[in-house]
Amino acid sequence: MRDVAVIGVGLTKFGELWDKSFRQLIAEAGSKAILDAKIEGKDIDALYVGSMSSGRFVDQEHIGALVAEVSGFSQLHIPATRVEGACASGSLAIREGYLSIASGINDVVVVGGIEKMNDVGGSEATDILAAASDQEWEAFFGATFPGIYAMIATRHMHEYGTTKQQLAQVAVKNHANGVNNPYAQYQSAISLESVMKATMVAYPLGLMDCSPVSDGAASVVLCAADKAKKFTDKPVKIIGSGQASDTLALHGRRDICTLDATVHAAKMAYNQANVTPKDIDFAEVHDCFTIAEICAIEDLGFIEKGKGGTAIDNKITTMDGSLPVNTSGGLKAKGHPVGATGVAQIVELTLQLRNEAGKRQVKDARIGLAHNVGGSGATCVVHIMEGM
Ligand code: COA
Repeated sequence: MRDVAVIGVGLTKFGELWDKSFRQLIAEAGSKAILDAKIEGKDIDALYVGSMSSGRFVDQEHIGALVAEVSGFSQLHIPATRVEGACASGSLAIREGYLSIASGINDVVVVGGIEKMNDVGGSEATDILAAASDQEWEAFFGATFPGIYAMIATRHMHEYGTTKQQLAQVAVKNHANGVNNPYAQYQSAISLESVMKATMVAYPLGLMDCSPVSDGAASVVLCAADKAKKFTDKPVKIIGSGQASDTLALHGRRDICTLDATVHAAKMAYNQANVTPKDIDFAEVHDCFTIAEICAIEDLGFIEKGKGGTAIDNKITTMDGSLPVNTSGGLKAKGHPVGATGVAQIVELTLQLRNEAGKRQVKDARIGLAHNVGGSGATCVVHIMEGM
């Protein structure tokens, strides 16, 4: 298997982007990544794009070929493939691109992720997202994602004594990080009190415990590591890639406070990278709801099971802590255009490892981890990256 590096990244601003079309978002993120990588169309062997539900959000399917078209590559007839795995669609697209280079089939691959979620109303967006849960056992009975994660949260509180205040502190931290990310949907600090008093969505999760409904796109250029220096002097290597699956519905799980797919995907990535959780300097984890970040830092092996809330109290995951988590603002503050999220996490890891993260730069960042979840944990993808 060959080593693979990221040689270029591009991002649109995340948010309610009424003035930009789906096509414009794809083109903007893709062209930024291509310019950053200093490649041309003739260098590209394949395109992969992650999108969860472009058909229902903007009535457009068949977006693999569309990405090639809006990028101006139609006449090059580059193989272009869409990948779907709910909110993990973006990191699945990264992994498909990664595998195609590692296998020796491709040398240079452009990966994109996109979702434009605000063209439909709030309740329709909730309904579309719920299609990634188990329709027969969850969505049909009204269990939307805020409700499903609320069940995980109340169980975590019952089993381990986790408090609503500890959940709220995750949101406060991620909004504080979002202040320093010019691409974030929310670049505003929030107080603990405002999170605690926010409108209840599904107990114990209030409005400020939830990631928002977002528009946005992200793109990265992957390249065989031994050819990367031909294009850039700052490649960042993917040293571990793991993926795992689990039941769609919560009730089929061994333990609803543990995302076993995260545990397995992380194990696969750590083994390949030959590192342990202690070697990770910073991480972008899937905080679609505040409880999800607490479960993630436990399931990734950073913190003992059940102690995630205490770790938040002890500020281990803040910018100044021993393991900064979600330096970009995470899904909570940066925004969560679902298909783009996994790709945007790789953009953040790359910027950090290139020492280009500006005011949110993690000092001496050497190894970073990205963790992306589809649904409530039926699909999980973990990537580990290191500067070259
Ligand atoms: N965090 C912070 N602020 C938020 C927010 C969030 N998650 N969601 C909305 N807001 C803000 C809006 O910007 C708006 O502010 P303004 O009045 O200053 O413009 C205000 O709150 C009301 O926004 P609105 O769009 O009316 O909220 P809503 O009640 O329709 O939606 C949620 C709120 C939490 C239900 C919605 O954001 C949501 O469904 N989030 C979860 C998305 C999800 O499930 N993703 C997949 C995860 S697996």
